[in-house]
Amino acid sequence: MIVRKNQSELEKMRASGLLVYQILNTLRGMVGEGVSTLELEATAEKMMADAGAKPAFKGYSSANAGKYPFVMCVSVNDEIVHGMPSQKKILKKGDIVSLDTGVQLNGYYGDSAITVAVGEISPEVQRLLDVTRESLDLAIDKARPGNRLFDICGAVERHVLANGFSIVREFVGHGIGTQMHEEPQVPNYVDRRNENPRLKEGMVLAIEPMVNAGAPGSRVRPDKWTAVTEDGKYSAHFEHTVAITANGPWVLTGP
Ligand code: MF3
Ligand code: CO
Repeated sequence: MIVRKNQSELEKMRASGLLVYQILNTLRGMVGEGVSTLELEATAEKMMADAGAKPAFKGYSSANAGKYPFVMCVSVNDEIVHGMPSQKKILKKGDIVSLDTGVQLNGYYGDSAITVAVGEISPEVQRLLDVTRESLDLAIDKARPGNRLFDICGAVERHVLANGFSIVREFVGHGIGTQMHEEPQVPNYVDRRNENPRLKEGMVLAIEPMVNAGAPGSRVRPDKWTAVTEDGKYSAHFEHTVAITANGPWVLTGP
């Protein structure tokens, strides 16, 4: 069942989303050569505590890997998602770094991710970031009452494939609300084996394209969390929590 949220619930979700937006904006400004990924984690954790919010990721339980130990995922270069912050991981020029975090505030979750460049990157890597970001924007534009889930999935898929990149299939977006992961799953491709529900006012989706520069394959490192590309090529990730309203898409994790 897809849980729909009323106006007052959406306003609570906006508060969570806005905090996530502010955290990612701060972290974006911190990213640079010589910064460790654990410094980003520390700042995110402090901002959540200061706002009285609960980290959505820390303590999150996965069947295979146990509890996730950090408030954010920081995934560098060939890491697709779920990279773990570390003091030993120092950003360097030419890296791309995905910053993914979520909070729970007043019972409601917000979840968002951005991928940013460390110093100058090659034009081809910049294109990977641009196409991934554009695919999210195109998908968000489909988040309207009367459309269907596949309109969102297809918008990402079309744009990514048309630009010669590939779509990670093992990880998907999701409904979000009083749980970080609610129905429906939101793959970044049209999977005709799945249902294709009509989108209705009050539904809230975390749409999160994960796009590989090379082949679509992924594997998980022995740490059981970090998903990396099989071919070692770069991967980008952008995510927004988006409410479907009568007035169109409301990007809860936006400005
Ligand atoms: N944005 C990811 C998701 O929606 C992050 C989850 S990381 C975890 O699934 F640690 F919480 F699992
Ligand atoms: Co998510």
